[in-house]
Amino acid sequence: MNKLLTHPLPSTPIRAVGRIDTSPISLSPAAGTDLDKIWSAVLPETRVRSNDIHLPISLAYAEKLLIVYPDANAELVRVTILLHDTGWGRVDRSKIISEGFSGDWRKADIRFLHEQQGCVIAQEILPGLGYSKEFVDAVCAIIDGHDTRPNAYSLEDALVRDADRLWRFDHAGIALASGWFGMDPAAYSDRLRNEIVPELLSEAAIAMANADLDRSQALLKTGVLR
Ligand SMILES: [Fe+2]
Ligand SMILES: [Fe+2]
Repeated sequence: MNKLLTHPLPSTPIRAVGRIDTSPISLSPAAGTDLDKIWSAVLPETRVRSNDIHLPISLAYAEKLLIVYPDANAELVRVTILLHDTGWGRVDRSKIISEGFSGDWRKADIRFLHEQQGCVIAQEILPGLGYSKEFVDAVCAIIDGHDTRPNAYSLEDALVRDADRLWRFDHAGIALASGWFGMDPAAYSDRLRNEIVPELLSEAAIAMANADLDRSQALLKTGVLR
C-alpha cells in the first residue's frame, strides 16, 4: 500500500471537521460523472445482491462523509466504495444469502471470496481507465478485508467502512437487508441501533445513522409493527 494515498486512522470516533448533514440521503445523490466509466465497466456485477441499490447509495453517503472529512483522499474513498462489493458478482450466487448472511457470516468463506474477487475486478478495470498501480493497490488494500478485517487501518478505510454500513439505515437499506438476514423491519432496525451504530467509526456517520434510523422507524411504523 502506498502511504501517500492514505492518511493515518485518527482516534475513534473520528472528530468531525466540517458540518454534518443528517438530511435524507435521497436529497444528496452522488454528484459528478467522473466515475461513470467505472459504473459501466461493472454493470453486470451491479445486478447481483442488489448492488445496483447498495453501491450508489453508499457512494452518496461516502460523498457526504468526505465533506465532513476534507483531509481524506476523496478519489480513493469514492472509487473504493463503488467497487467494494462487486465481487459478489463473481461468487456462487446460490450461496450468497445462505452462507454470506446467516450464522457466523463474518467468517464465511464466501465473504472472503467476495472481497478477493472485488480486488480482481478493480485490477481488471482500473488500469485501463488511467488509474496508477499505486492507486489500484490502495483500493485493493481496503476492499480486501472490508467485511472480515477487524480494524480499519486508515482514515480512508474508515470512511469506506462507514459508508458501507450507512446505506442500511435508509429505508431502502432496511427494506433489502432485513430480508437478507431473515428479520422483520422492526427487529432489523433494532439491530442496527444496538449493533451497527456502535461499529461506526466517525462522528459524522453516527449522527447520520441515528437521524436516518429515527426517520426510517417512524416511516415503517416499527413501534407497532413488531
Ligand atoms: Fe462486502
Ligand atoms: Fe457493502
